[in-house]
Amino acid sequence: MKIDTSLTMPQLPEALSQAGLNFTVATEEDFDDIMAMSQDIYGGLDYLPTRYTSWLQEANRTVILARKQGKVIALESVCVIDDGETMLVEGLRVAPQERGKGVAGVLLRFCSELVKSKFPEVKVTRLTRDDRLGPKDFQKYRIITKQGILLVRFRAEDLKSRLSALGLGGDIQSPLSTSSTNHLPVRLDQTAVHQLYLTTDLMQGVLPNATIIQDWQPFKPLPSNMAILMKKDIDWMVDDLSSPTVASLCTFPFRVPIGDDWYYLNIDMFGKDLDLARQQFLCHLQRHTATLKGHVMCQMFLDPPLWKPMAEFCHTTLSVELVKEYTEQCVVESDVI
Ligand SMILES: CC(C)(COP(=O)(O)OP(=O)(O)OC[C@H]1O[C@@H](n2cnc3c(N)ncnc32)[C@H](O)[C@@H]1OP(=O)(O)O)[C@@H](O)C(=O)NCCC(=O)NCCS
Repeated sequence: MKIDTSLTMPQLPEALSQAGLNFTVATEEDFDDIMAMSQDIYGGLDYLPTRYTSWLQEANRTVILARKQGKVIALESVCVIDDGETMLVEGLRVAPQERGKGVAGVLLRFCSELVKSKFPEVKVTRLTRDDRLGPKDFQKYRIITKQGILLVRFRAEDLKSRLSALGLGGDIQSPLSTSSTNHLPVRLDQTAVHQLYLTTDLMQGVLPNATIIQDWQPFKPLPSNMAILMKKDIDWMVDDLSSPTVASLCTFPFRVPIGDDWYYLNIDMFGKDLDLARQQFLCHLQRHTATLKGHVMCQMFLDPPLWKPMAEFCHTTLSVELVKEYTEQCVVESDVI
């Protein structure tokens, strides 16, 4: 979806066009202006600095800027997924001095009108939120699924030593397991991912509301979405190929703007078995701390009841620092009308 018009929207309701904003498609040259209004976003875990250039090149995505007197004051990315049926909203941000004035609402509506005009087959808008939803949000959105957010931080070298001290330096054979099925998690190659997620219904009981959430992006298990996911550096894991109970997706570590040597690791965990989830968590940690030097913010999204025992495990067994108490990631959806 590449749009290179000046983005005027004649059908935009009067109130929106009166907001004194105009809209442009983001380009490479806008990067510094966008970063200038993005300071401290997502507690320093902003993925946009890492993703910006590739976002501009993605065929199914457009990044829209709102400008006031020519100055960039807000950004939203829209991406058409789910075989063209879903418009995924990401990256939404408004410059700090412009917040609370309705800018996000105007931008959301503008982007929705834009996508509707270019892609009439789009049926729903989806987005992922981590703030507390209010009554107005519940009138607007249906909840597709919720995951608990567990955020921990550590020095990669410290965790590596800790894992070795626990006897987890080589192949993970978890002595911490209390489960009778004590076999190792399986890392999936692309063929195995396709087979498991697309040609069987084995993941039905594992995925929350039939949704693969990968680093905040919710996808239906469809071939067109798999093509998007397969372009990313992700470790896919399950406990058992023929009868999966827990599955996880882990990004490769990428830099975040908290500080010079800070990395971010995003783990999406699906399923309800604590012991199997812990095993996969350990495997991801072990694999990605083996060569990494520096500080790591590791964010895991998991079934809400697993949050507390997993947080205790992080604190008492792994000696990593909990950054915040329980919060939730909500995938929400509304009809495009
Ligand atoms: C969240 C943020 C974008 C809201 O911007 P804002 O201009 O102050 O918001 P508004 O004054 O337009 O008021 C709220 C409107 O935005 C929507 N909104 C608020 N937070 C939202 C969010 N996280 N995701 C989507 N929509 C959101 C509300 O539903 C409301 O829409 P409505 O006008 O249709 O009712 C802004 O505070 C911000 O940039 N925060 C830092 C970045 C961030 O947390 N982004 C959210 C990513 S999930």
